[in-house]
Amino acid sequence: RTVYVNGEFVSEDQAHVSIFDRGFLMADGVYEVVSVLDAKLLDFPGHLARLKRSLEALEIANPLEDDEYLSVHRELVARNGITDGLVYLQVTRGNPGDRDFAYPAAETPQTVVMFTQAKPGLADAPAARTGWKVITTEDLRWHRRDIKTVQLLFPSMAKMEAKAKGADDAWLVEDGKVTEGTSNNAYIVKGGKIITRQLSHDILHGITRAAVLRFAREAQMQVEERSFTIEEAQDADEAFVTSASAFVMPVVEIDGASVGDGKVGHVATRLREIYLDESR
Ligand code: PDD
Repeated sequence: RTVYVNGEFVSEDQAHVSIFDRGFLMADGVYEVVSVLDAKLLDFPGHLARLKRSLEALEIANPLEDDEYLSVHRELVARNGITDGLVYLQVTRGNPGDRDFAYPAAETPQTVVMFTQAKPGLADAPAARTGWKVITTEDLRWHRRDIKTVQLLFPSMAKMEAKAKGADDAWLVEDGKVTEGTSNNAYIVKGGKIITRQLSHDILHGITRAAVLRFAREAQMQVEERSFTIEEAQDADEAFVTSASAFVMPVVEIDGASVGDGKVGHVATRLREIYLDESR
């Protein structure tokens, strides 16, 4: 695989980042994941806009121009022959040459890494026909979840807890309300209405979320942006999650309780079709 590191395209075994990199020592960096279908990037402008917001929120200078991010994405997709898959992008505060809590001098170059992952058949994931089972667990992440940082230990722990319990993912819960999934935004459907948590510092502002809600409103579906409890979710007609890599994924079970009739819902299925049709 060819990867991109700090201005160069190199083979993955030739790619190097310093052990003093702030991303490695402090999780001081941000990332984005852009899906690729039929060799085309999905929602690229939205992901780029969010990358810039994340960098700004952490006062990390933006190392590249918009068209440079785009051309590196395209070049990697082409060089690695990616039809279906994703492009991962990470920017860290760089390598100060030593370990220190204080940020390094402003002129310290940021570290920029991009690589592809091939995911054949990404849009036809069999799970979209059977749905995910989720567990719930307390949301112990920090309180700036709107910044897409590489600080992903807690979501990884929650994912492992879900797997240990035979589930596909975990919904994180704070003050009795669902915030989001480990790496996706969470929704329920009740009486035809789509309910998903309002935007704030509590959740990541999903690019797929924005697109899906826009398509839902255009299709005259009702949308309510508010938080909901686990009980309300278990009692809903349908549930689903959205993310760049899962698109719209139905959820059929929450903590062992079937959602609705326990089958993949019509609203989730329709939104998945619309999203895949409109985005590629
Ligand atoms: N995760 N919430 C969290 C905590 C996420 O990590 C993600 C994305 C989302 C959905 O955002 P978007 O629709 O922009 O992908 C919500 C990516 C896919 C990941 O970590 O792999």
